[in-house]
Amino acid sequence: MRLRKKPWIEEAMKEVQGEYVFLHDIDKFKGHWQEMFPGKRLCLEIGCGKGRFTIGMAELYPDKAFIGIETQHDIAYFPAKAAKDKELTNVKIICANAENLLDWFEPGEIKELYLNFSDPWPKARHAKRRLTHRNFLALYKQLLGEGGHLRFKTDNRALFDFSVEEFKEFGLQIIALSYDLHHSEYENPVQTEYEQKFSALGTPINFCEVVF
Ligand SMILES: C[S@@+](CC[C@H](N)C(=O)[O-])C[C@H]1O[C@@H](n2cnc3c(N)ncnc32)[C@H](O)[C@@H]1O
Repeated sequence: MRLRKKPWIEEAMKEVQGEYVFLHDIDKFKGHWQEMFPGKRLCLEIGCGKGRFTIGMAELYPDKAFIGIETQHDIAYFPAKAAKDKELTNVKIICANAENLLDWFEPGEIKELYLNFSDPWPKARHAKRRLTHRNFLALYKQLLGEGGHLRFKTDNRALFDFSVEEFKEFGLQIIALSYDLHHSEYENPVQTEYEQKFSALGTPINFCEVVF
């Protein structure tokens, strides 16, 4: 997702920083997320973009807490602002690169992981940047612990096929798979920004759920 540089965001970020979005010293929360959200099941979306999914899920499931990771400042502001405007107490945004997530979470601290419309990185030499590459799966395995669920949606068939192969190679149990989620038996309570855009163009949405 590319946005034109918005100089006002630096200033506006200060209004949400520290309460709704974390930019620095995220490692201090390691092992303490549950204290932030007592009694709630901890869920994580990596690459949350402007946050339609993270915010929508948090509204729909008040018994869960949703942490969104978004690496771009100019984008991470929006879900944090939405959480503030809606006074949601079960949402936090981390503005940083997910490759460092084991610095921020103890093993097994997250129960559900969501990857929605992840950047496809189509060139073979960039395969390691794909969020479903086995190197990332190894991080997720620690993050989730045994029995944790990963749910993945994408319009991009090449990325989807690559990802399903990675899941199999990594030895994950595939419990749901569809090449057309919107016409499948599977529940899909909240659509992401990209999902709305691509499905409006008639592109089928691929979906896979695996258990670690
Ligand atoms: C194609 S957009 C999809 C946004 C949203 N999930 C949706 O479905 O509408 C992918 C987003 O993931 C973010 N992203 C990509 N790699 C990331 C990483 N390693 N850590 C955190 N965010 C990342 C990008 O900045 C971008 O905003």
